[in-house]
Amino acid sequence: MEFIDLKYQQSLIRENIQKAIDQIFDHGQYIMGPEVTELEAQLALFTNSNYCVSCSSGTDALYMALMAYDIGPGDLVYTSPFTFIATAEVISLTGATPVFVDVNSFTFNIDPEKLEQAISSDGIKGEPRAILGVDIFGLPADYEQIETIGTKHDLIIIEDAAQSFGAEYRGRKAGSFGHLRATSFFPAKPLGCYGDGGAIFTDDEGIKDKLLSIRVHGQGKDKYENTRLGLNGRLDTLQAGILLEKLKIFSNEFNQRQKIVRLYNQYLENCVTPQLIPDGYLSAWAQYSVLAENSIVRTEIQKALQLKNVPTAVYYKTPLHLQEAFAYLGYKQGDFPVSEDISTRILSLPMHPYLTEQEIITVCSAVQESILSVV
Ligand SMILES: Cc1ncc(COP(=O)(O)O)c(C=O)c1O
Repeated sequence: MEFIDLKYQQSLIRENIQKAIDQIFDHGQYIMGPEVTELEAQLALFTNSNYCVSCSSGTDALYMALMAYDIGPGDLVYTSPFTFIATAEVISLTGATPVFVDVNSFTFNIDPEKLEQAISSDGIKGEPRAILGVDIFGLPADYEQIETIGTKHDLIIIEDAAQSFGAEYRGRKAGSFGHLRATSFFPAKPLGCYGDGGAIFTDDEGIKDKLLSIRVHGQGKDKYENTRLGLNGRLDTLQAGILLEKLKIFSNEFNQRQKIVRLYNQYLENCVTPQLIPDGYLSAWAQYSVLAENSIVRTEIQKALQLKNVPTAVYYKTPLHLQEAFAYLGYKQGDFPVSEDISTRILSLPMHPYLTEQEIITVCSAVQESILSVV
């Protein structure tokens, strides 16, 4: 069984992808070819954003987002410690300070109440500038409350939608929350390319123009007139061509994921605790993650699944405030108890649109049996 079955997906669309690649070989515009422009137009429409600026990865999307708002030394950016390193790494790379705020124990997303407390507490030196919300495992953070808090404190709101492309909250799509939204097309993501890729969404023309400049070494009128420092942050034409083909099957895949989760929830009832999806939300289900009762039970579940050749993963075994890379921030064990607790119990099970009911039953019965063996 595959954790994420990209091979099967490829077999469904290989012919069309091959055609798309051949077309790019024919026109030869490997950098910023017409497929990039077409993809940006389609993605802007999909997320209901005025502008989409594609880029080289989800990490660069976040980095460019912070750069576009001139976030840097002396600035505080509030974010979750229960996420992939890239979320907070880019804050540090700009010279700003990541300020971690614990998550909700059911949704695993940033806790708005604690966010308000952190912003109001004046505990860390610096100027509050931005909130970087993370849509963990595909579930959008609570942007209604985040937007209220952000507006009250005059903060920029950035959505880390790396895992949530396609997700929704009350009819609004992931990639449409806050001032700037960043997503990733890493192959394992809900919309993935065959390499690295990402995109940024904004409704602000001035910010869009700045992002276009940052994407190519801070270019002015052309690449050799440089008005600011930037990156080489472009998306390859080949990846754009592949993404255009993948977009055609995206809605189907998204619906399939919802069905698969319903089956998982049914077969795992009363056995483990799945991530809570509150009313009004649709997750993109980048991961299907459950909480075991404790770390011993989690290890037993993993072992039982391994015996049946079922791959699992632990996202994330160490919350960011306890990572060595962030030791300079001075956090310690116990600072964010919810994130720490989740990290000891979380487990992600195979998740992709092509899982069969039989495969789900195999996974769930192994989980059930392993739990009975521990009790
Ligand atoms: C929450 C989150 N943010 C940012 C990123 C970075 O995306 P990329 O790997 O495309 O650089 C990832 C990727 O795993 C992610 O999961």
